[in-house]
Amino acid sequence: MKIAIMGAMPEEIEPLIGQLENVSSSLYASNTYYEGIYKGKEVVVAYSKIGKVFAALTATILIEKFDCDILLFSGVAGAISEELKIGDLIIAEGLCQHDLDITAFGHPYGYVPEGEVCVKTDKHLRQIAKTVAEKKGITLKEGVIATGDQFVADPERKKWIGETFKADALEMEGASVAVVCDALNVPCFILRAISDSADMDASFNFDEFLESSAKVSAGFILSMVEEI
Ligand code: ADE
Repeated sequence: MKIAIMGAMPEEIEPLIGQLENVSSSLYASNTYYEGIYKGKEVVVAYSKIGKVFAALTATILIEKFDCDILLFSGVAGAISEELKIGDLIIAEGLCQHDLDITAFGHPYGYVPEGEVCVKTDKHLRQIAKTVAEKKGITLKEGVIATGDQFVADPERKKWIGETFKADALEMEGASVAVVCDALNVPCFILRAISDSADMDASFNFDEFLESSAKVSAGFILSMVEEI
């Protein structure tokens, strides 16, 4: 069993790399992939760079070139749900692309023919996350995460995404990773810690809380790896 752990930004994977044993790195398709061992488990860690295209590329490479059997994503997100505060964790039950729009042809937002508006993640991995959270006494929200190639710092856009997709949080990679995993039959898990509330203060909050929230997410992912 080889476990892929990916983030989008260096800050999202740095807390992971430091915890690995026997690390070796290799460069492929303009990204660095770190192979190592965590608590006896084989892992491959990489950050993709921001956005859906880079994330899809990295997820594909982790699966097809590095032969990973499952994929865990760790990172930060903007909150939509009022329940979510900075540093809180959310796991995606399903993910949608809020910027995918062929409504001109009568389709719903986020839908393209032969795709789905909402791509589900792996139930077993979500169950492991719930068990870990319970053991640690951590509150873990499960919900819909909306993905798009857009840093949302606008209350109107945030409201629209929340209402249109019943989304609880938003970010810029998760749905594309979930689509790749679904197509390649690889169990997928997406975890995010909140860095901001996707409103007027989002960019300031993001800068302030990226590192601390990314650490919360990465720490939780490592606890999950022990249980897999
Ligand atoms: N990731 C973290 N915060 C975000 C935001 N406000 N918009 C998009 N992606 C994010």
